[in-house]
Amino acid sequence: MADIEIRHVSKIFGHDAKKALAMARDGLDKAEILARSGCSVGLNDVSLKIGAGKIFVIMGLSGSGKSTLVRHINRLIEPTSGEVLFDGNNILDLDAKTLRAFRMRRVSMVSKALP
Ligand SMILES: Nc1ncnc2c1ncn2[C@@H]1O[C@H](COP(=O)(O)OP(=O)(O)OP(=O)(O)O)[C@@H](O)[C@H]1O
Ligand SMILES: [Mg+2]
Repeated sequence: MADIEIRHVSKIFGHDAKKALAMARDGLDKAEILARSGCSVGLNDVSLKIGAGKIFVIMGLSGSGKSTLVRHINRLIEPTSGEVLFDGNNILDLDAKTLRAFRMRRVSMVSKALP
């Protein structure tokens, strides 16, 4: 069991992520950012803490970023900005070998599509 912390994570999909991130920080909405930059905002400044052993539910409308958020916890997706901490260690600092071991021993993911 481990503490998981997401710190100010933003994820922009697209080629001009830096420009789109600046727009998100300026308060433009997702549709405006898409129109102006061609980028899709997956997450905008998300922070949360999940204590070791806790059951934590992420709920939201389709497209609100649930899958994108969860994929940051095993680094299947890397943030455009922000940090992902596992027991206080930023998993973005892990090298390829350590990341493999982390995924084998510390974190797992099961996908289930509802009918
Ligand atoms: N690979 C990608 N390329 C471009 N945009 C993406 C990509 N992945 C996700 N997005 C966008 O990021 C936003 C969040 O998507 P995400 O799939 O995380 O939502 P979700 O809450 O899991 O939705 P659902 O309930 O339908 O599974 C959406 O606008 C989506 O279009
Ligand atoms: Mg999803």
